[in-house]
Amino acid sequence: MRIDLISIFPEFFDVLDLSLIGKAQREDLVQIHRHQLRDFSFDKHRSVDDTPTGGGAGMVMKPEPWALALEHVLTERPTPAAVEDQTAPPRPVLIVPTPAGELFTQRTAEQLADAEHLVFAPARFEGIDHRLLDWAQEHFELRPMSIGDYVLNGGESAVVVMVEAITRLIPGVIGNPESLAEESHADGLLEYPVYTKPARWRGIDVPEILLSGDHAKIRDWRSAQQDLRTRKIRPDLWARHVVAQERNLT
Ligand code: ADE
Repeated sequence: MRIDLISIFPEFFDVLDLSLIGKAQREDLVQIHRHQLRDFSFDKHRSVDDTPTGGGAGMVMKPEPWALALEHVLTERPTPAAVEDQTAPPRPVLIVPTPAGELFTQRTAEQLADAEHLVFAPARFEGIDHRLLDWAQEHFELRPMSIGDYVLNGGESAVVVMVEAITRLIPGVIGNPESLAEESHADGLLEYPVYTKPARWRGIDVPEILLSGDHAKIRDWRSAQQDLRTRKIRPDLWARHVVAQERNLT
């Protein structure tokens, strides 16, 4: 998978060189390319923002530097493997982080983990001139995305969240793929509580069932814990789970 990140703070993405995503890059499972948006602005101050048309507080990002940066990314993208391959490559997915976007969930991450090419365009200030999004639809599959109902200073931290959630699902990135199947949200429920040794720590025992060696009983206990937790902490997820189960039974 190729990922392009365009920002006025490309250093923000240095965290992606650490840990499992850093290793995935070194193993060429994912190629992450960073671009400085100001490199595509050619005035004296390399400015990327201007006052809002119609008035109002704050500044708005100009569309032209973004269009030039995105065109640059399009020219750099890998061409189809064979010359005789007449099928047009799928359009890259352009993810624009915004609190006004579609909610990014585990299902979105699973869907995007199959993409060949993702481009992220995190805005600063009050956002990007909307005409850029109209223009971009011709070249990209456009996905404005929110990571939750709160407002960040800019889209970069949302990009880090999304890139981590997506890339960990690429085969080979996580050593033990079983851990993906059992974690929270994989099946629409929260994960069960986990324990390690010693069996008694500061006077608190691990649940006895986990020491029984009875794998069927342990499975049932974990599943019941998932139900309990989800009902209590995330009634919204629980309601969805119940509806899905009822549908499967009919
Ligand atoms: N930019 C600012 N707030 C955001 C949010 N909640 N999600 C994605 N991008 C954002």
